[in-house]
Amino acid sequence: MNNIDVNYISKNIKTHTIGKKIRFLSSVDSTNQECKRIINCGEAHGMVVIADTQTNGRGRHNREWISPSGVGVWMSIILKSSLNSEDLIKLSTLTCLSVRKAIETVTELNTYIKWPNDIVINKKKVSGILIESTTIKQKTKFVIIGIGVNVNQSRSNFKTLDNASSLAVEKQSYVKREETICKIIDCFEEYYKEFLITRRIDIDELKKASVLLHKRVVITYANKEIIANVEDFMEDGSMIVRDDLDNVFSISSASVRGLNSYID
Ligand code: BTN
Repeated sequence: MNNIDVNYISKNIKTHTIGKKIRFLSSVDSTNQECKRIINCGEAHGMVVIADTQTNGRGRHNREWISPSGVGVWMSIILKSSLNSEDLIKLSTLTCLSVRKAIETVTELNTYIKWPNDIVINKKKVSGILIESTTIKQKTKFVIIGIGVNVNQSRSNFKTLDNASSLAVEKQSYVKREETICKIIDCFEEYYKEFLITRRIDIDELKKASVLLHKRVVITYANKEIIANVEDFMEDGSMIVRDDLDNVFSISSASVRGLNSYID
């Protein structure tokens, strides 16, 4: 039985807005794409779209996101929101913080953030986040928060993906997908509610959870590759790095990897 028990999710979430409407699809091209179609048809703030499998799941830079049936959480949250581009960067950090917390609560494993959008356990990527935004009639802005979590894949599923893993592989036991989804929805609303009041993110929490802070990394940014040390993360969600010539850069979006591997 590969379907996800949406009743379980509806009964167990503790939220006021997020996930009050859930659309479940056994199969869809991409839950983010489905959100775009839903937005075109009307009111959808807080709606969560979940699929058992995606036939065209996408990650950042339009990379393929493999989304097999029965083993993953492939979900997107729709927000109707007039966030500016600075707030969008904060929203990405906020989503990482909330997904990290949700996964750590469900698995009881130390869970980290690899800036800007990966969630990591034991130095392996278990989850990725893809935020997209859309405008209608140049006015109303919607944000789509796409979240993918590898939940119950076995180690053999990652033969060609050295840096990836699943919650079950790392925990060495089965993880209930519905529980993972509930916790993600609860944590996301908690963090987002706070953000709407303060317009701030807890940067100390990001620093504590970061696998990159004080590491030497390769950054692909503005069509260049630079090697630098990660010095800090700022209130606006940006990463501060210093290269070997002592140049300091503030980076809001980039691909980052360790000098020799995904993290190290
Ligand atoms: C990344 O690591 O590059 C981001 C991956 C985001 C994957 C999720 S799965 C649900 C949603 N639908 C998609 O097509 N992508 C996101």
